[in-house]
Amino acid sequence: MSNNSSLVVVGAQWGDEGKGKVIDHLAVKADIVARFQGGNNAGHTVVYGANIFKLHHVPSGILNKDTLCLLGNGMVVNPLVLMEEMSELEKRGIDTSNLRISSKAHLILAYHEVLDEANEKMLGEKKIGTTGRGIGPAYADKALRRGIRAVELTDFSRFKKRLAEVLPLQNRFLQEIFDHPGYELEELAEKYRLAVEKLGPLVKDISLILNQGLAEKKRVLFEGAQGALLDIDHGTYPYVTSSSTVAAAAASGTGLGPQRLGQVLGVMKAYTTRVGEGPFPSEDVTEAGDQLRERGNEFGTTTGRPRRCGWFDAVIARYAAMINGLTGLALTKLDVLSGMEIVKIAVAYRCNGKEIRNFPSSIEELKLCEPVYETFPGWDEDISRVRSLDGFPTAAKDYIKALENSVGVKVDLLSVGPDRAQTIICPGSNLSNWFIEK
Ligand code: GDP
Ligand code: IMO
Ligand code: MG
Repeated sequence: MSNNSSLVVVGAQWGDEGKGKVIDHLAVKADIVARFQGGNNAGHTVVYGANIFKLHHVPSGILNKDTLCLLGNGMVVNPLVLMEEMSELEKRGIDTSNLRISSKAHLILAYHEVLDEANEKMLGEKKIGTTGRGIGPAYADKALRRGIRAVELTDFSRFKKRLAEVLPLQNRFLQEIFDHPGYELEELAEKYRLAVEKLGPLVKDISLILNQGLAEKKRVLFEGAQGALLDIDHGTYPYVTSSSTVAAAAASGTGLGPQRLGQVLGVMKAYTTRVGEGPFPSEDVTEAGDQLRERGNEFGTTTGRPRRCGWFDAVIARYAAMINGLTGLALTKLDVLSGMEIVKIAVAYRCNGKEIRNFPSSIEELKLCEPVYETFPGWDEDISRVRSLDGFPTAAKDYIKALENSVGVKVDLLSVGPDRAQTIICPGSNLSNWFIEK
């Protein structure tokens, strides 16, 4: 590992690849875990024993009591939801005193949630299928320079003054376009009084904390949310989220120079899922897709929506590897494929009679693409108790090899179940250094 002290973990498909699980596993060796984009559209699940945690804002490192958890400037934070999330964790005995929020993170306020829903309604059949958490409107306000930043949470009168500046325009949109009554300043500000009191003291200069931490050789993990194909620039626009989900955003989303980012681990499921609308070439709408959904329990962590399921797509995986500079893969949910008669990998697309290997940059072209599959024999063995590469049935080993070859990146970590313990670090991989004592 070239830079032993930081590691970026990103989703390399359409989200829900198992980032929470992977981060939790790696966090035992991290001093700091930082989120750098997205908000509570994320739903990251961590399981150990009978404990299941679903995290939305809070980094998945929070379960390690000494790990400092940072919410970076690239994030959008809903103060009310964050407060609730922290209090739920506290109730379950998880200490959240190690959480810090960037003063430059933008706030998701009540009107953003209303606008998200109203926008979707207006789009009708062309809706994005957002999580309805106000993500798009909050990022739009940031870009339009009328957002409210977390620094305003440090003082209630300051927060209220800023709200008074931006609310009249928000109300006009709500009332004149969306037929909503709008918000009264006093009432809306009061809704956030407690959040100002509780979260204000956690607002800090995250960039400074991280830069100082790295100078002191602290180990930093960056926790991506969503996935490469949901990236605002590189994803299947407009069916994307509103932030930059690729590894490079870990630098700008926390206030760090790009040379400080180390290895980049791309999390991929051994098949593909997508929640929400938009093209998905390897989607399987037959019984096989239903089998993947049932066996993989593919229902959204944030919204509970059934996830669309299909086969592993090496075209998107190669693309994700390129735009992220992936140095390794974390391959999750391999156990879900046990019992499938055959398993398939989309190695290319056929588009207008031509075979293409690169991901098309136009969504119109993508919509015309049919996957070209390579088919492999399945395996019946339950692999959820396997803890070393040797323990896999030959068919599973062959599938992993074929997948690595089709993506051109090696698997560093294998996951065979939701639990922390159901994880294999591939011997000799880049990741083995992460587990060496400092
Ligand atoms: P994230 O958003 O990338 O953190 O992923 P989610 O938590 O939204 O979705 C992944 C789901 O798969 C969660 O329910 C995890 O507990 C579960 N999971 C993660 N890894 C594995 C695995 O290797 N096998 C199985 N069966 N489940 C897994
Ligand atoms: P994690 O971090 C899967 C999808 C939504 C929708 C699109 C835009 O758990 O992997 P948004 O609310 O962001 O404006 O919705 O992005 N989406 C996700 N899909 N996992 C996520 O997060 C997602 N966050 C957003 O379903 O298609
Ligand atoms: Mg998720």
